[in-house]
Amino acid sequence: MKAFFVEHYGKDTLLALGDRPEPDMRDNEVLVEIRAASVNQLDAKIMSGAFKQIIPHKMPLTLGHDLAGVVLGTGPRVTAFKTGDEVYGCLPVNRIGAFAERVTVDESYLAPKPGNLTMEEAASLPVVAITAWQALVVIAGVTPGQRVFIQAGSGGVGTIAIQLAKHLGAEVATTAGAASADALRGLGADIVVDYRKEDFAAVVKACDAALMSQDEASLAKAITILKPGGTAISISGPPDPEFARQAGLNQLFGLVMWGLSYRIRAAARRRGVRYAFLFMQPGGAQLRELNALLESGVIRPVIDRVFPFAQTPEALAYVASGRAKGKVVVGVGGARAG
Ligand SMILES: NC(=O)c1ccc[n+]([C@@H]2O[C@H](COP(=O)([O-])OP(=O)(O)OC[C@H]3O[C@@H](n4cnc5c(N)ncnc54)[C@H](OP(=O)(O)O)[C@@H]3O)[C@@H](O)[C@H]2O)c1
Repeated sequence: MKAFFVEHYGKDTLLALGDRPEPDMRDNEVLVEIRAASVNQLDAKIMSGAFKQIIPHKMPLTLGHDLAGVVLGTGPRVTAFKTGDEVYGCLPVNRIGAFAERVTVDESYLAPKPGNLTMEEAASLPVVAITAWQALVVIAGVTPGQRVFIQAGSGGVGTIAIQLAKHLGAEVATTAGAASADALRGLGADIVVDYRKEDFAAVVKACDAALMSQDEASLAKAITILKPGGTAISISGPPDPEFARQAGLNQLFGLVMWGLSYRIRAAARRRGVRYAFLFMQPGGAQLRELNALLESGVIRPVIDRVFPFAQTPEALAYVASGRAKGKVVVGVGGARAG
């Protein structure tokens, strides 16, 4: 089957299109014909080797986490899906490979595709929607009347997090370039700060939660906009010892992460707030919960561009530029390259 893969890590590594073996199917796995995949910053970071110490992959490595497609077959222990079902999901970090025609995946990572969404729309969601859910529902426990700050509202995570926070009953403040402000108000943002002109910490105050996705300097500021007892969640680091524990990393990694996050944890403690690093854990269960919100239109996917499968490297480069508004998707079905 056709797939986009890398032969080694590196900043200048090229994503190559080629023939890869058909995936093996285990008893608890589903064989999916991929119709669309979406691109995440994570794909570019994995390709660069940024995570090679904590997530070792075998080469050649087919990239891609997010997919939507149709079930072609099921292992004997699969109970939730049957051939012909439309599904979507995020592949586990140690078995990625959504930039391909087919993949096998444990059924627990999949959910039924919401009937009102196209394959492209469904594929745009898993990583960013699960990240938003785990940050706002699981870690911060956002409740009605709270105030939530979401950094980079125009990004893949931000566009979904704004809608989810609003649904949870929060007042939502966000940062974005001026050109994105109206669109983000349309998604439910109450306050949009133009991050190129204004310091969000001067405008946004007394938040219960802050979802941070960019630099450490703004994470340090996020601590200052929280109410006592509030939570700053970073999805871009620094990782903390709790992450090392959850990821099953050895003591040395635990120590490194203790050191990397020492300053922000100490600053949070001094102000009576909490710091949490989040590395999203994929799974179909939270997607099933999100399905109700997607099917009722409470949360709408936001797609910047759809690229044909043959242009997966261009799609990845566009995402890596950090300028995408919402998500970037690759249409796989019917766009067989080569
Ligand atoms: N830990 C996890 O589990 C996890 C999960 C998902 C994502 N992430 C990470 O979270 C980060 C964001 O991911 P994403 O998919 O949302 O990224 P993205 O879609 O690539 O974000 C691009 C958007 O961010 C905006 N932006 C860039 N810098 C900004 C800043 N300083 N302030 C406000 N807006 C800014 C850009 O707007 P302009 O063009 O107007 O500047 C653009 O619209 C990435 O580093 C990604 O790796 C982590």
